Amino acid sequence: MRMRIDVVTIFPEFFGVLDVSLLGKARQSELVETHVHDLRDYAAFKADGSPDVHRTVDDAPFGGGAGMVMKPDVWGKALDDVLKPTGVLVIPSPAGVPFTQALAAELSEAPQLVFACGRYEGIDARVAEHYAQDGYRVVEASLGDYVLNGGEVAAVAMIEAITRLIPGFMGNAQSIVEESHADGLLEYPSYTRPASWRGLDVPDILLSGHHARIAEWRHAQQLERTRERRPDLLPPAEGGAW
Ligand code: ADE
Repeated sequence: MRMRIDVVTIFPEFFGVLDVSLLGKARQSELVETHVHDLRDYAAFKADGSPDVHRTVDDAPFGGGAGMVMKPDVWGKALDDVLKPTGVLVIPSPAGVPFTQALAAELSEAPQLVFACGRYEGIDARVAEHYAQDGYRVVEASLGDYVLNGGEVAAVAMIEAITRLIPGFMGNAQSIVEESHADGLLEYPSYTRPASWRGLDVPDILLSGHHARIAEWRHAQQLERTRERRPDLLPPAEGGAW
């Protein structure tokens, strides 16, 4: 089955990046098709039906406060047009659930993903609520604990993480199984030739040819790295800080 990805944004030109790199390859191989839509195309008329020459997509927040909020009527028109019955609505937001490898794997099985990229202070909260009420899966997801200017960069990162998990996309499926986060641990360190470089030697065990001992060493390295860099990923019994 071919995955369809739609992106709705006020910066459609930003998504030219989808044409290059691995993702460009996946599109050529027809595992995935992408469609980018300009949100302003849905802002030609105001909520009362009169023309809006400015194609306004945002307005001041009810209750006051800084910044602007994206209008639900404009988003409603765009999403009614773009979302298919089996589509999943993904809204990148610093207030979302963490975007993890497990979530990427789940989303890689959806027939259609629609990324709604908000700017300013986000999208009127009723948009997510409305499509969830309508029976769609709605995922508000955050890339990490920092704030970007909008959802565009986050959408590109999520699209890359998701599409590389589509079966047939990566040349070497084993590299997906072994990489960081696939088993809840960080990946072990990797080395290639030369065995000695600027006074630094590749660990002897990797040159030994003992496959079982190499696997054991790599697992120990995974645990050590994870303990040091990401204790939040480990239970206390493994030296972590769950
Ligand atoms: N939009 C702004 N900041 C974001 C973040 N950290 N993750 C996802 N979307 C965002």
